[in-house]
Amino acid sequence: MSIRVGILGATGAVGQRLIQLLEPHPDFEIAALTASPASAGRSYRDASKWRVDTPIPESVAETTVVETDPDEVPNDIPLLFSSLPSSIGAEVEPAFVEEGYVVSSNSSNGRMDEDIPLTIPEVNPEHLGLIEVQRDERGWDGALIKNPNCSTITMVPTLAALDGFGLQQVRVSTLQAVSGAGYSGVTSMEILDNVLPHIGGEAQKMESESLKLLGAFDGAEVSLHPADVSASCNRVPTLDGHLENVWADLEDDPSAEDVAAMMEEYPSADLPSSPDPLIHVFEDPERPQPRMDRMLGDGMAVAAGGIEETPGGVQYNCLAHNTIRGAAGASVLNGELLLEEGYL
Ligand SMILES: NC(=O)c1ccc[n+]([C@@H]2O[C@H](COP(=O)([O-])OP(=O)(O)OC[C@H]3O[C@@H](n4cnc5c(N)ncnc54)[C@H](OP(=O)(O)O)[C@@H]3O)[C@@H](O)[C@H]2O)c1
Repeated sequence: MSIRVGILGATGAVGQRLIQLLEPHPDFEIAALTASPASAGRSYRDASKWRVDTPIPESVAETTVVETDPDEVPNDIPLLFSSLPSSIGAEVEPAFVEEGYVVSSNSSNGRMDEDIPLTIPEVNPEHLGLIEVQRDERGWDGALIKNPNCSTITMVPTLAALDGFGLQQVRVSTLQAVSGAGYSGVTSMEILDNVLPHIGGEAQKMESESLKLLGAFDGAEVSLHPADVSASCNRVPTLDGHLENVWADLEDDPSAEDVAAMMEEYPSADLPSSPDPLIHVFEDPERPQPRMDRMLGDGMAVAAGGIEETPGGVQYNCLAHNTIRGAAGASVLNGELLLEEGYL
C-alpha cells in the first residue's frame, strides 16, 4: 500500500522535481501540495510555472494548492517533503512536526541543530537515531530530518570513501549551476557571459555540514569529523549539475588507482532511489561534465574523475545533479530510509 505524502513549497524548482520523482514512486502517493498564499486556491497547473523536462503529471495538474499551514493539510498524510525557503521552513516545519507529521526537508534551517538528523542514506543512515533524542528533547510526536545543501552532497560521498585513507584536510572550489539558486535566484543579465565568484552562505554550509555528515553518532549525539574543510563557491552559467574541484590531504599515501577503487567500491544503499554504483569514476580526465554526466543513475549518482596524486594526498573533480541528488532526490531517499526504518 502506498504512503500518502505532501509537498511543502510544491511550485518551486525543487518542488517540481519532487513531483517528477514522487508521481511514479513505488511507495509514495502525492496527496497534498502547498505553496505561498499567492498560489493557494489555484490549480497546480495554474500556480506553478512548470519547467522540468517531463510533462506535468495529469494526476497533480488539477490539484488545488493549499496554504503551508498544518490546518490545511489532511492529517492522514504521515510524510511531508519540504522545499520551502529556509526562513519559511524555520517557521512552519516545527509547527507541522508538533502536529505529528514526519518532515523530510531540503531547507537549510536547523541542519546543524544537534538533535536534527542530517543524512545521506548511503553515508550516515545511523544518524536517523537522533529522532529519538529530538522527540525526547522537544516533545514532538512527528520528526524533522534534513538533507544537506546541494554542493555539500556532491562531494561528501567521495570524502566518505576517502576517509578510509584518513581524511585530514579538504579544499574545494565549486562551479555551481543556476538552478541551485531557485527559479528567481539569478537573472540572465547577471549570469550569461559571466561567473559569480561568491554564493552567500554556501561555503559555510559546505564547511560545517560535511563534518556533521561524516561525524560519528554514539546513540545520543553526533561528534563532528575532525577534518578541516574550506570551500570557495562560484555560480556558472550551466542549468543543472554542480561540478567541484577537490583537494584532499590524507594520512595514508594511496595511489590514484587506490583512490579510484575506493570510490568505485563505496557501497550504495538498498533503497528504491539509490543508484548502483553510488560513485561513478571516470578514467577520462575530461569527465565528469555537467551536461553529459548529471543524469547518471537517473540523476542520483555522484561522478568523479581527474584523480591525481598530490604531495599531501589527492586531487579530483566531482559532479552531481543539484536539484535531483542535491535536493529533491535526496529528500525522497531520506523518506525511503524513514519508511524502511519504521518511522512512518
Ligand atoms: N534549487 C536547489 O538546487 C536546491 C538544492 C538544495 C536545497 N535547496 C533548498 O530548497 C528550498 C527550495 O528551493 P527552490 O530552489 O525550490 O526555491 P524556489 O524555486 O524559490 O521555490 C520556493 C517554494 O516555496 C514557496 N514559498 C515561498 N514563500 C512562501 C511562503 N511565504 N509561504 C509558503 N510557501 C512559500 C514557493 O511558493 P510560490 O510559488 O507560491 O511562491 C515555492 O513553492 C530552499 O530552502 C533552498 O535553499 C535548493
